[in-house]
Amino acid sequence: MRDQHRAPALFAPLRLRDLVLAHRGWVPAMCQYSCDPVDAPGVPHDWHLVHLGQFAVGGAALILTEATAVNAAGRISPRDTGLWNDEQATAWARIVDFVHRSSAVGTKIGVQLAHAGRKASTYWPFAAQRGSVPATEHGWQALGPTGEPFGSYAAPRALTDEDIRAVIADFAAAAARAVRAGFDTVEIHGAHGYLLHQFASPLVNTRTDAWGGDEERRFALTLAVVDAVRSAVPGDMPVLLRVSATDWVEGGLDAAAAVRLARAAAARGVDLVDVSTGGAVPAAAIPVEPGYQVPFARAIRERAGVPTAAVGLIDDAAQADRVIRDGAADAVLVGRGALRDPHWWQRAAHELGTELPWAPQYERAAWWR
Ligand SMILES: Cc1cc2nc3c(=O)[nH]c(=O)nc-3n(C[C@H](O)[C@H](O)[C@H](O)COP(=O)(O)O)c2cc1C
Repeated sequence: MRDQHRAPALFAPLRLRDLVLAHRGWVPAMCQYSCDPVDAPGVPHDWHLVHLGQFAVGGAALILTEATAVNAAGRISPRDTGLWNDEQATAWARIVDFVHRSSAVGTKIGVQLAHAGRKASTYWPFAAQRGSVPATEHGWQALGPTGEPFGSYAAPRALTDEDIRAVIADFAAAAARAVRAGFDTVEIHGAHGYLLHQFASPLVNTRTDAWGGDEERRFALTLAVVDAVRSAVPGDMPVLLRVSATDWVEGGLDAAAAVRLARAAAARGVDLVDVSTGGAVPAAAIPVEPGYQVPFARAIRERAGVPTAAVGLIDDAAQADRVIRDGAADAVLVGRGALRDPHWWQRAAHELGTELPWAPQYERAAWWR
């Protein structure tokens, strides 16, 4: 008999608004760079179905899709997924339906809505080339807070006030499409040096209009997107926000700023902050080690009073359980660990002395048999 006292914290359910997650083990957004940029730009297909579907079979409680662009110019690469038209929404609906139907634990799925800003139109990591994709190879003019490029990427065009308002509207339209496609939640990508983070970081945003300057103005775009997404989805659907809680550079965003951003976002209806770090500028010294971002998830959880998810080099079951048990975060995202082992949650549950239900097709492999 399992001692109730030792029941794994990782496998306790979590409720966000009306969405009940079976447990706290989730899949973070992971770009697959696998769309056909010419015949079906932004349209997910069989690769995405199998990639995301395997985590549903593996017992994840929540799967977040890869960064999915709210308009064509917002793609990191020409091969990214999107949600700016109905063809994309229909393709996503098939994947959402598969995840819902194939999971024995009741896996939920959310879409990560993104705009890459000045880091758009780049080669995918497994391309032969690096840097910005030229127009001759289906690249486009990237857009940013200013004309300043990211490292050696092509210079972006600075967004006008009108462009910024259009981007906000595109986030709202994509969120409405996500609801129609059956997604259970929406995550706004405000991290990793993409557009919202570019506006939030003083290292990147040197604008002098309503969208730049002091912290309130730098955070204005993220919060305007939160408002737009919140009003495009039903009141009972949770909205998640991924942030980079530090730029890892003197003079950039730090934990104290991230706490203020999280507090403001929560006041506007964000239900959980997914806490990552870095990405605004290329030259950052990041002390990467197991669980290195967990202290930021704890700081935001404790000081902003909003639920958080922790991510980054957490791929051991006991380590993940400790993050929840210690009160550092409300959920743990396992990325590369899940690519290595798509049934990570089944294995983790077993290692922690409990069992998740298996899909009936796989029951003969269950440890409890
Ligand atoms: C292949 C791959 C693609 C990724 N794509 C995204 C993405 O689309 N959006 C995002 O917010 N983070 C992305 N990330 C970062 C992951 O969500 C996660 O934060 C990171 O991998 C650290 O977690 P891990 O150590 O468990 O892998 C990606 C990571 C990998 C490995």
